Amino acid sequence: MTYDKPPELYDGLRLHQNENTLGCSPRVIEALATLRPEEIAFYPPYAAATRACALYLGVEPDRLALTNGLDEGLMGLAVAYLRPPVGGPIPEAVVPEPAFEIFRIDTEAVGGQIVPVMPRPGFGFPLDLVLRAITPRTRVVFLTNPNNPTGVSMPIEAIRQISHRVPKGAVVLVDEAYAEFAGRTFIPELPSFPNVLVGRTFSKAFGLAGLRIGCLVGAPEVLDPIRAVVPVYSVNIAAVVAVQAALGDREFLQDYLRQVQESKALLYDACDRLSLKYWKSDANFVLVGAGDRCDALVTGVTRRGIYLRDRSNEPGCGGCIRISTGSVEHTRRAIAAIEEVLCAAG
Ligand SMILES: Cc1ncc(COP(=O)(O)O)c(C=O)c1O
Repeated sequence: MTYDKPPELYDGLRLHQNENTLGCSPRVIEALATLRPEEIAFYPPYAAATRACALYLGVEPDRLALTNGLDEGLMGLAVAYLRPPVGGPIPEAVVPEPAFEIFRIDTEAVGGQIVPVMPRPGFGFPLDLVLRAITPRTRVVFLTNPNNPTGVSMPIEAIRQISHRVPKGAVVLVDEAYAEFAGRTFIPELPSFPNVLVGRTFSKAFGLAGLRIGCLVGAPEVLDPIRAVVPVYSVNIAAVVAVQAALGDREFLQDYLRQVQESKALLYDACDRLSLKYWKSDANFVLVGAGDRCDALVTGVTRRGIYLRDRSNEPGCGGCIRISTGSVEHTRRAIAAIEEVLCAAG
């Protein structure tokens, strides 16, 4: 299986990749402009950026590994924990569906076996099914909180129970790419659950997707095998400088978080008016069930220069579209286009 990379659409309003369409903080641009030629010529230092991220997340710096986007952290995890040992059983990765497709791609790329857990109607977390899917061969459980593509959060208690159930040496990855929007994190619990790693990204709330920076947080002994397989200088100097500047501008973050809340409320209202199903989201996007109007809606809105992501092929997501809900102005434009398309279709 390969990643079905969305087409490179940069000539319209990008509401299909959960990005921050407000951009990044102006302080990031200022900081990048101060980069000196020799800073670009030298391999990058990581101590200051690691400290800044650790301070932001409330952990000691030795419990945090910077990565080239959270994507690299996920691949590092797969390489470190899901490669079949010579002559040994194939390691398994349990994935409650629908899920971020990279979990499957990374697992398969290194020769591991995906064990999917199918969703329940309404996307309530299927804890009993996940616990049942865990076997002595389980090496990783991939969780996403809040989930992508549903936006639905899982109970923290479920993470605790999964952590207790997995075999020794296995890792529970809690992907918190959207945690800023939910206002909840498992990080304070990590010392009591040493087999859990939390993944974070600066792509979403901080608008740094183009620079590629994220991190893994957890016990040093669980991180070490991942550090050992990730390229030594994979995070570049622009990302190092940018993340520190971004973390220094909490007003920008707060404004975006506020706009995300307002945008979601606007979209829920529009869905109610248009008889579209939706799931209340804790992230910066909403999964909308358009049923048999899905195709026409995505095509019609695309013609108006607005990109949405058809998620119909994901388990439990038949007829569903994922729509980023960030900038209020952009959300209003999307809603106007959706209304126009659906009203024209009668
Ligand atoms: C659940 C989830 N994890 C990880 C990522 C990747 O984040 P990054 O841009 O830091 O690689 C994404 C990006 O969409 C995501 O949705």
